[in-house]
Amino acid sequence: MQNIFDTIKKVAIKIDHAIKTEDLGYSNSENSSGEDQLKLDVQCDYLIEEAFKDISEVKALVSEEKEGVMELHDNGNYTICYDPLDGSSLVDVNLSVGTIFGIYEGELKGENLVASAYVVYGPRIELIIATKGEKPLLYRVNEGVFNFISEVTLNEKGKLNAPGGTQQNWATYHKAFIDSLFAEGYRLRYSGGMVPDLHQILLKGGGLFSYPGTTDKPEGKLRQLFEVIPFAFIYEQAGGQAIDNNGVRLMELVPRHPHDTSPCFFGSNSEIDALKKAYGVSQ
Ligand code: AHG
Ligand code: MN
Ligand code: MN
Repeated sequence: MQNIFDTIKKVAIKIDHAIKTEDLGYSNSENSSGEDQLKLDVQCDYLIEEAFKDISEVKALVSEEKEGVMELHDNGNYTICYDPLDGSSLVDVNLSVGTIFGIYEGELKGENLVASAYVVYGPRIELIIATKGEKPLLYRVNEGVFNFISEVTLNEKGKLNAPGGTQQNWATYHKAFIDSLFAEGYRLRYSGGMVPDLHQILLKGGGLFSYPGTTDKPEGKLRQLFEVIPFAFIYEQAGGQAIDNNGVRLMELVPRHPHDTSPCFFGSNSEIDALKKAYGVSQ
């Protein structure tokens, strides 16, 4: 597994360089979620594929930017599911973006995720790595080297609220809940990139990030294998919770297709308990 984490560190530096130097235009293709791919999405996907292709522990790769499963090494133990460039539509306005990795052993489902990691490309490059039974670890790059900074723990209750999706398409009970948090004094912190938005909540002690099912996207937008489950793991390891609209842990998700999505809510305990009450789902 260390080999995989070292590879993530190396490829993160390359992706950061690509973000800073490559053409920001669209390619001529769409990904499996029907989104137009930027040249950068394709380039970052290629950098990750190249980085992992000779690592014998890696059985297969599944990417947000590829249609199916890319088999690598028959005897490998791990399948790496990744979003090469999360928030890529924010690069042209110079906001932070990220890369997300979910490392699965066996069938691709939440309970088989054994580790996850994400990189934030912002004013600095930061990396969070989470493994079973341990608090997530934060690293920051200085002169090309990842330095360990600290363990990450969520407080029981936070102050930030990051509500995803188009408000016009929210259910009335969802809008009422989000409004109740603001009425209580929560501050809006939402960039439109789940990596920096979830990173901010994680490092500033807590709060709520939500991307609900909406009238236009009843199953939400965020993809289970490369976005939802890896972050659910990190939030749980940090002492928080991550659930779907039925109050079920996102770690219990079993995707039927690699690009399946799910409504998702990540936060510290107080906000997620309040959300369960508002949604009328069991505690
Ligand atoms: P990607 O760039 O990998 O397609 O993902 C973007 C995601 C996520 O980062 C963000 O939270 C969400 O899309 C925002 O989507 P909308 O602005 O469409 O609601
Ligand atoms: Mn994404
Ligand atoms: Mn992406």
